[in-house]
Amino acid sequence: MLFRSTTSRGNDCIKTKRATSSEVNSLKTSSKKRERLTTGISGLDSMLGGGLLQGSAALVSGAPGVGKTTLGLQYLVTGASLGQPGLLVTFEEFPATLIRDADAMGWDLRALEAEGKLRLLFTSPEVFLKSLESPDSPLSETMHTIAPQRAVLDSVAHFQRLTSDRVELRHVYNSIVNGLKREGMTSLLLDEAARLLGPQYRYAGALPFLADALILMRYVEVDSAMRRAIAVLKMRGSTHAREIRSFSIGKNGVEVGEPFSGQEGILSGSPHRVA
Ligand SMILES: Nc1ncnc2c1ncn2[C@@H]1O[C@H](COP(=O)(O)OP(=O)(O)OP(=O)(O)O)[C@@H](O)[C@H]1O
Ligand SMILES: [Mg+2]
Repeated sequence: MLFRSTTSRGNDCIKTKRATSSEVNSLKTSSKKRERLTTGISGLDSMLGGGLLQGSAALVSGAPGVGKTTLGLQYLVTGASLGQPGLLVTFEEFPATLIRDADAMGWDLRALEAEGKLRLLFTSPEVFLKSLESPDSPLSETMHTIAPQRAVLDSVAHFQRLTSDRVELRHVYNSIVNGLKREGMTSLLLDEAARLLGPQYRYAGALPFLADALILMRYVEVDSAMRRAIAVLKMRGSTHAREIRSFSIGKNGVEVGEPFSGQEGILSGSPHRVA
């Protein structure tokens, strides 16, 4: 079953026993063995230390129109070509719009759906959340048929509509992240960053803390021109690049370029040159 309700089993005892050296070695080996999934964007993969860790959930936070959906589609289309089916849950864009925009990038979403390599779900946060709590929901059944290994939620900002209570919202996000993980899916949670430019990114709400990785996409003004910048701010269980790189969107999707060099204050939105 795709999603099961959360249980607290396994979290109810605190182990105080010191790990033996063989246990430590086995942990080292298993973490070494943890597979990585390519995002389909080689520059981003290298920033992530080789790709997303299998079974992780990454938050992709970005300004309006910066390229979040494009990045998400690229991740799913790449997975489909590697035999890793994907699920795109969208709360705002009609599948027809997505299909048309993806077409412009040369990605045939309808064909991938027909081949069982992709599933587009246009739903509401309420219905999606209910389906997480109901193992027998049509959504779970449908998802079970293609056994997705990759998931993209576009966008998780819509869950804020469900409640104004911060604790409750944290529970909602927790259920989503855990639901996706339980099924071994490696997910991108697309999120809307309120600011286009301006002062530094602020962690708003619980999601940046719950996610395993945090990727920031934003606009920056450099030498009187608007550029796009990408950074990996966090990645659990892995090293990652600390640099801020430029990226562009072209006919093949997102392409990550070189780090901004000779500039300081890129993430502030108003960089200045350094000698
Ligand atoms: N074929 C294309 N060639 C070049 N750039 C494109 C192409 N298609 C889209 N873009 C660029 O991608 C941007 C939109 O990307 P996308 O929809 O992925 O952004 P988003 O962050 O998901 O936006 P939103 O916040 O509205 O959901 C456009 O603003 C445009 O600049
Ligand atoms: Mg979008």
